[in-house]
Formats: sequence, structure tokens, C-alpha cells
Amino acid sequence: MSALAVRAGVPLGPRTTLGLGGPARAFVEARDEATVAAAFAWASAQGLEVAVLGGGSNLVVADAGFDGLVVAIATTGINERPAGDAVHVEAAAGESWDGLVARTVDAGLAGLECLSGIPGSVGATPVQNVGAYGQEVSDTLVSVRVFDPVSREIRQLAATTCEFAYRDSMFKHHGRHLVVLAATFALRPGGEAQIRYAELERALDGAPRDLARVRRAVLALRRNKGMLLEADDPERRTAGSFFTNPIVGVAEAEAVAQRARSLGITAELPRWAQTDGRIKLAAGWLIEKSGVTRGMSRGAVGVSRRHALALVHHGGGTTASLLALADEIVETVHARFGVTLRREPVLWGA
Ligand code: EPU
Repeated sequence: MSALAVRAGVPLGPRTTLGLGGPARAFVEARDEATVAAAFAWASAQGLEVAVLGGGSNLVVADAGFDGLVVAIATTGINERPAGDAVHVEAAAGESWDGLVARTVDAGLAGLECLSGIPGSVGATPVQNVGAYGQEVSDTLVSVRVFDPVSREIRQLAATTCEFAYRDSMFKHHGRHLVVLAATFALRPGGEAQIRYAELERALDGAPRDLARVRRAVLALRRNKGMLLEADDPERRTAGSFFTNPIVGVAEAEAVAQRARSLGITAELPRWAQTDGRIKLAAGWLIEKSGVTRGMSRGAVGVSRRHALALVHHGGGTTASLLALADEIVETVHARFGVTLRREPVLWGA
């Protein structure tokens, strides 16, 4: 490794899918693991906080930027090895997530196909246990290779120790300081896709579930919801779902349903029982039924025309205005249904 190349005042907005936010005080691009370690050592010597940047697709950066060192993970490499009936696929954190999914689908390895079209890099996926259309990365993840900046060691963590839950893992809590360097998935060679999402089932309409077809169907669904990043899409500047789906107790779910009925809402409250007995509600539904319409704008920011959960930056806006819109939505939904929505993307510098 050559000397650490630290740049000052690098704009972060262009490195996020939202295209918002100020600069990083210091910035390092890490193309290998040794650079990740060196960057942390440098920041520690300077007394600077560190933030790790992946694909920037689930990130909101404050207008003032981030007053510390940003380490952009740009490591590459994917390798496959047989492991019993499965194939273990290890991908470096900086690899494109959808590139990995496309490659496994082409190779006939089942397990990631429903996660097609999700923007961002591999390294971010274990942190929030990325999931869509009935699959979550934790379903197939075997282990995560991490750098621990405290002990300065690289460790391999078994997936069973990562405390995965809906959009959650220990990397968001007590393991927050750990940097994901690589992730290994156990995939099924020649396997058929397992379809667990009613909307995807309907889209497939009885067609054979070969992986390529499932990938195409998922990409089409995502495109319809504006959840596929495409350069010519006027609503491409988003961070995907801006809120998580609230998970509530049975009594609270019933209270929300009652509330909806008393407000004259005839549509059935969408709800899904979780394995722990609690109930997942649809944040998009709650937003729309609170009177926030798709396509509504507040200056340069607004709600997607295709999905109420996606906030959109139309260009020339500020993070402050986006966060004000998010607050307005949280208050509106709370006033109407008594449910507090939680922000899904990570926020830096505010
Ligand atoms: N709905 C509405 N209005 C909307 C959108 C949704 O009423 O504008 C209601 C509908 O009743 C629909 C239900 O919400 O049946 C669920 O909608 P959808 O299938 O689009 O899924 P979601 O719960 O809104 C979640 C993930 C997405 C993921 C999809 C598909 C979260 C926060 N979001 O969205 O993930 O692609 O399921 O599995 O869990 C992301 O996290 O960035 C993301 C895009």
C-alpha cells in the first residue's frame, strides 16, 4: 500500500443517491483492506470521527456535511467455493450489490434473486439486513468479515451472532463501530426461487420460477414503484423507503384498524403477522391514508409519484427541507393513526 491519500472538503452529495448534503472534512477511498485500517489509524491520530461510505443509497448527509473522515469502501472481489450442497459466495464490501445478484442469478445460484435491483454496495447489506420481496440477506448470509477499529483486528463473524431482525442487526447497535469488509452467502446451485411475496407471486402468474425470470419480475415491480435507480428517471434522487414499516402489538394494530374505520376508510388495513406474534403495518398505506398524496411537493423535495414511502429530491434542494418534509409526514401520520414512523436511511452530520 502506498501512502494514505487523504483529500479535504470532498462533496458528499454526489456520492449519495439523494444528491444532497455538504462535504466531508477529510476523505479517503479504500481500495484494499489495509487502507481501511490505515485510514482509521490516521483519523484516531487526528482526533476525528469516522464514517464509512458504501453506495450512498441509504444515506442522508446534512447540509453542513460531515466534520470528520469519510472512508469510502471501494474494495472488489467475488469468489465462490463449494460447501456441501451449497456454494459459498464471498463478496468484498465495495462490490455493487446488484452486480453480485446478477452474477449469482446467471450462475444458477438461488437465494438472492428477489433482492434484485437494490442500489448500493455489498457491505451495507448486512448492516440493515436488506430485504425485499420475501427475501432478506440474513436468510442466506453465513458470515461477515469485519474490521474492528478498536482492537484493530479483522474478524470473521458467524451470521448467527449478528442479531438480524427486520431492517436491523447488531451493526446498528453495539457493533456500530465494526466495518464490514466482506460478506459470504450460502446459495443453492440449480435451486428454484422460493416465492414468499404475494405481489411477486401474482406477477409471475404461474410461470416457471427460474432465477432469471424471477429477477426480471422483481426488476419490473421495483421499476413500477420508482425503486430502481435509472439515470433518465426524473424521480431517481431517493433513498428508497424513507421510513420503516412499523411493527406493533396486536392490540395497537387493532386500534389502528378501528381508527381507520372510524375515519371512514373502507380499505382494509394491510397487516402481516410476524414470527414473534407482533404485527407489521404498511408505512406507505398509513402515509397515504393520512392524506399525504403521492407526488406532493414542498419546493425541491416531495413524495414519489409511484410510492408514498419514497421521498424524492427534484434537484437544487437542501437536506433541511427533506428532513422538514419527513417530520411533517411523521406528525401527520401520528396525528391520524397514533403510529410513529421511524426514519430508515442513516443520517450523517445533523
Ligand atoms: N402501500 C400504499 N401506498 C404506497 C405504497 C404502499 O398504500 O404508496 C401499501 C400497499 O397496501 C402495499 C403495502 O403498502 O400492499 C406494501 O407495499 P410494498 O409491497 O410496496 O412494500 P413496502 O412495505 O412499502 C417494503 C420495503 C421495500 C421493499 C418492498 C418489497 C421497507 C421499509 N421497505 O416496502 O424496501 O422493496 O417492501 O419487499 O421495509 C427499502 O427498504 O428501501 C425498500 C425499497
